[in-house]
Amino acid sequence: MARFGNHNRLAIPRSASKMVHLTFEEQMESQKTVPPLITGDFTGKTIMVTGGNSGIGFETAKHLATMNPARLIIVCRSMEKAQESISQIESETGFKNAEPMALDLGDFSTISEFATQANKTLDRLDVLIENAAVGFNTDGYTVTKDDWEMQLQVNALGPALHTLLLLPIILKTAKQHSTFPRIIMVSSGVIYSTKISSEVIASPNIIKTLSGKEALTQGRYAETKLLNVMLVDKLTALLPQSVVPLAVNPGFSVSGLSRGAKGERAEEFKKMVVDYHAYTSEQGSRHVVYASHGGKNEEVRGAFVSFKLEVQELPDWMLTEEGKTSRDKIWNEMLEVFGIVDARIPTIVAEHLKN
Ligand SMILES: NC(=O)c1ccc[n+]([C@@H]2O[C@H](COP(=O)([O-])OP(=O)(O)OC[C@H]3O[C@@H](n4cnc5c(N)ncnc54)[C@H](OP(=O)(O)O)[C@@H]3O)[C@@H](O)[C@H]2O)c1
Repeated sequence: MARFGNHNRLAIPRSASKMVHLTFEEQMESQKTVPPLITGDFTGKTIMVTGGNSGIGFETAKHLATMNPARLIIVCRSMEKAQESISQIESETGFKNAEPMALDLGDFSTISEFATQANKTLDRLDVLIENAAVGFNTDGYTVTKDDWEMQLQVNALGPALHTLLLLPIILKTAKQHSTFPRIIMVSSGVIYSTKISSEVIASPNIIKTLSGKEALTQGRYAETKLLNVMLVDKLTALLPQSVVPLAVNPGFSVSGLSRGAKGERAEEFKKMVVDYHAYTSEQGSRHVVYASHGGKNEEVRGAFVSFKLEVQELPDWMLTEEGKTSRDKIWNEMLEVFGIVDARIPTIVAEHLKN
C-alpha cells in the first residue's frame, strides 16, 4: 500500500472548519475506528451514484435508498448491471424508486449520450456521487478508444466530463429549490503519497504526458485520485456558493477494486487487509454517505472528508505553487479536450463557471 500522510505538518487553512493532518501511522490507526452511519432525509431529492453495482458504490446506494430519495439513479457500465443492483437494493431495503442508467467512463461518446439522456429525463439532481474507478490494471498499458490511458480516463477525465455535462441540471436544482446540491468525487488517501513530477509539469501537455506509456508517472492510480481533488478545487472556486463540491476518502476497504491483483500482488493485498484493518465496503461507504449530506455546507464545501468523517488537510504539495500551477494547467487542458469531445462544454463553462 502506498504510504500516505508521510509529510511534514503544514498548517495552511483552506476554510474556517477544523482540519486534521494525519501521518501515515495515524491514518492506519484511524482505520480501527469505524465511523457511524449518519442517516438523513432525502425526501423529494434525486441522487446519482456511478459504479453503483459494486463495493463502496453499491453500499452507498443501498444506504441512501433507506433515506427516502424521490429518485436514486444507479449508473453502471451496462443497464443489466444497474438492474441487478437495483433488484438487490429493492430486496434488501424495500426501496422501489431506483432507476438504471448506463455509461462507460472509458468512452467519452457514452458520457455525452448519458448527458443528453439525463437532460431529458432528470428535472433535478441534488447529489452526484462520482464513485466509479478502476484499481489494479493487470492488462499492462491499456489505451481507450478515445486514445487515453485507461485508468486516467476512467478515474479522472471521464468523471470530470460527466460532472461538467451535468452542471446545468445541478445549478437549475439549486436555483429552483433554493437548495445546496453536492458534487462528490470519491478520491483516496493515496493522494498523500503522490504529486505530479516537475518533469511532467514542464511538458507541453500534462494530461497527455500522464497518459503516455513512458513511466513518467508517480503511480497512475494515485495520480488519478489527485486529479479528482484538483477538480473539486477548481469547481469550488468557479461555481456559485449554492453548489457544494467535495472529495471524500472512503478509507482502505475490501471491494472489487483489487480484482485485478494476481499472484504475489493478490497475496500482498490479503496481508494488507489484515495489517491495515481494512473496512468492509459497507464501512467505507459510510464516509461517502456522510459526504452526501453530513456536515455544514460551508464547512465541507471544497473539503477533503476522510477518516472519522473529518475534514483533512490537503497534501502539502497541492498547496505549493507547483501544485496550484499544475492544477490550473490540467483544468485548462481538460477543458480543451472536452470542448472537442462535446460541443456543449464551452457553453457550460461560459455560462456557469466564472473565469
Ligand atoms: N476500496 C478501497 O480501498 C478504496 C480506497 C480509497 C478510495 N476508493 C475509491 O472508492 C471508489 C469505489 O471503488 P471500490 O473500492 O468500491 O471498487 P469496485 O468495487 O471495483 O467498484 C468500482 C466501480 O467502478 C465501476 N467502473 C469501473 N470501470 C468503469 C468504467 N469504465 N465505466 C463505468 N464504471 C466503471 C465498476 O464497474 P464494473 O463492476 O462494471 O467493473 C464498479 O462499479 C473508487 O473511486 C476508488 O478509487 C477505494
